Amino acid sequence: MKVVLFVIALSAALTGSLAVKSLVFPRETATSYVEVIPRKPLNLKAFTLCMLVATELRGDRAVILFAYRTQDTDELNVWRERDGSLSFYLSGNAVTFQVPQLGALQTHLCVIWDYSSGAGALFMNGRKSLTKIYKSDHAIRPGGRIVLGQDPDALLGGFDINQSFVGEISDVNMWDSVLPKNNIQDMFCGKRIQRGTVIDWETAQLKVNGEVTVIDYKL
Ligand SMILES: *[C@@H]1O[C@H](CO)[C@@H](O)[C@H](O)[C@H]1NC(C)=O
Repeated sequence: MKVVLFVIALSAALTGSLAVKSLVFPRETATSYVEVIPRKPLNLKAFTLCMLVATELRGDRAVILFAYRTQDTDELNVWRERDGSLSFYLSGNAVTFQVPQLGALQTHLCVIWDYSSGAGALFMNGRKSLTKIYKSDHAIRPGGRIVLGQDPDALLGGFDINQSFVGEISDVNMWDSVLPKNNIQDMFCGKRIQRGTVIDWETAQLKVNGEVTVIDYKL
């Protein structure tokens, strides 16, 4: 019994002191970005990509939320579109979801996709969107770079100020499978589930370029 209590106290202490990095992009630029180094190459036939995101950008432009690009191809991009809908692109056309607008309050956003059925969907704050059949028999290819804050039209360049991200992004995690709905809901509720197999935000190396402030917040 004493041992059990000790373990509970210890894990509470550890959880209490856990700090998570958060990226603040203060203004529109064509130069500020963060490259995220994954744990393994993005050779993916399925994925779950989650992040906490907040932006006050409004109006008539698209905003990049996540970009993974190989030399010649946008392998996986996640966008806030001009009309406020959210979409993702796997080297080609978009699949778009008419969801509530992002805003100043953090949204827990996840994107899921699986090649066998081509099923794609979003989760916003633990609520799943409708499923859309997008690309079956496709794969995301390795050898690219992951960029937050800009939409690269070359491997790590070709940025457009009018597509840049302004706001705060944190807790970007990626898995090479579609996680069960209850895992995604647990994450939204603040439980620390199994760490990302492709991107583990707690240990990921971040290469910060330009005007981006990395802050730590305690969980
Ligand atoms: C960005 O958008 C502004 C306002 O629409 C425009 O004046 C400017 O030319 C655009 N810049 C680029 C690099 O496209």
